[in-house]
Amino acid sequence: MTLIALGVSSSVSIYKSCEIIRRLQDRKVQVQVIMTRNASRLISPLLFSALSGQEVIVDPFEDKQSAKIAHVALAKDISLLVVAPATANIIGKFAGGIADDFLSTFYTAVKCPVLIAPAMNEAMYLHRQTQQNIRKLKELGVKFVEPEAGYLACKETGWGRLAPPDKIVEEGLRLIQKSQSFKGQTVLVTAGPTREFLDPVRFITNRSTGKMGYELAEEALRRGAEVILVSGPTHLFPPPDAKLRKVQTAEDMKKEVLEHFSKADVVIMTAAVSDFKFEESASGKIKKEKLGGNIKIVPTPDVLKELGRKKGQKVLVGFAAETEKVVDNALKKLKDKNLDLIIANDVTAEGVGFESNFNQVSVVFPDGKSVQTEKMTKVEISQVIMNKIEEIVGKKSG
Ligand SMILES: Cc1cc2nc3c(=O)[nH]c(=O)nc-3n(C[C@H](O)[C@H](O)[C@H](O)COP(=O)(O)O)c2cc1C
Repeated sequence: MTLIALGVSSSVSIYKSCEIIRRLQDRKVQVQVIMTRNASRLISPLLFSALSGQEVIVDPFEDKQSAKIAHVALAKDISLLVVAPATANIIGKFAGGIADDFLSTFYTAVKCPVLIAPAMNEAMYLHRQTQQNIRKLKELGVKFVEPEAGYLACKETGWGRLAPPDKIVEEGLRLIQKSQSFKGQTVLVTAGPTREFLDPVRFITNRSTGKMGYELAEEALRRGAEVILVSGPTHLFPPPDAKLRKVQTAEDMKKEVLEHFSKADVVIMTAAVSDFKFEESASGKIKKEKLGGNIKIVPTPDVLKELGRKKGQKVLVGFAAETEKVVDNALKKLKDKNLDLIIANDVTAEGVGFESNFNQVSVVFPDGKSVQTEKMTKVEISQVIMNKIEEIVGKKSG
């Protein structure tokens, strides 16, 4: 049976941890609860013991009978550490490497994935110190279920409310999903926008944030693939296990993609590569008086088309951002570029796509058939897309 450690710190939303235990048990997961000392002052550990069927760990220094180094022993047994709710304090301790109680000591001993669900008042959550701590942990590969906006216990409305227990459980289980369906395969993913410079200050770009591509890279890694992520400029944290290649321009993107193309079994081109660049790019800033009417733009290289020509047995997947006749236009692109699959986004739809954590896409196949997804998180969409790619890989390899 899978064993997950649930770290509980002293946030007012601590009562929601009871629901998290229940939902994990529904999914046949055994839960070992670890409470901070302050958490055990808000709610008795007895309640969590009763729910989880396991003795709750609070402070082994107080357990005079046990000579076991429990944090090391337990760290070897668990598949995942979830901390929900996570206070500003415990996040700060993790980020600073402080190990002065069981939960923070345990964090420094685990090698498994760690998922943190912060819960706190908006001012605490948005405080630069808290944000810096979160950023640092993300850079170390720790995953977060972001808190939501809503009515908070401090009688204010704002950011900082613990994410719903179901969402925390789903995200946790996703992190330990054991599929190795892409083991031995290399997946090349492109993500983000490109920048086409007029001079060192000005450039053409677009609204892509790279989120969809980064989620696909994560999903491919979770399925056992080697992942090469060629990324335009984004503010995202790349998955630590991906081989990251950072690029700026469409030309750079082309160079990196062609360099790694021969190694790849699957190529997923989510990047919003600029279709145009300036005919000339100056090395110094152009004075505004010289700019007017003199700027010419020319097409950038069509990398996808080139890959389509040389793809052989590789699976080649493209994305299409459309504002009308979404599926028809995507199908045209699929045929023109010789793709195996194209994912079409209606970029006029509200609350999905660019700059959003959500998306709703049409998955379009070469025979013209298409499937439209519900509005889902980009994480869920990445699973849908990888499932389809898995089917195509299966068919190609016979
Ligand atoms: C009733 C109560 C509710 C609290 N709620 C939160 C909270 O939601 N988030 C938070 O970061 N701190 C909250 N705090 C403050 C923390 O409990 C405090 O920073 C504590 O030192 C954290 O200890 P721990 O991280 O070891 O549990 C709360 C304190 C009290 C008394």
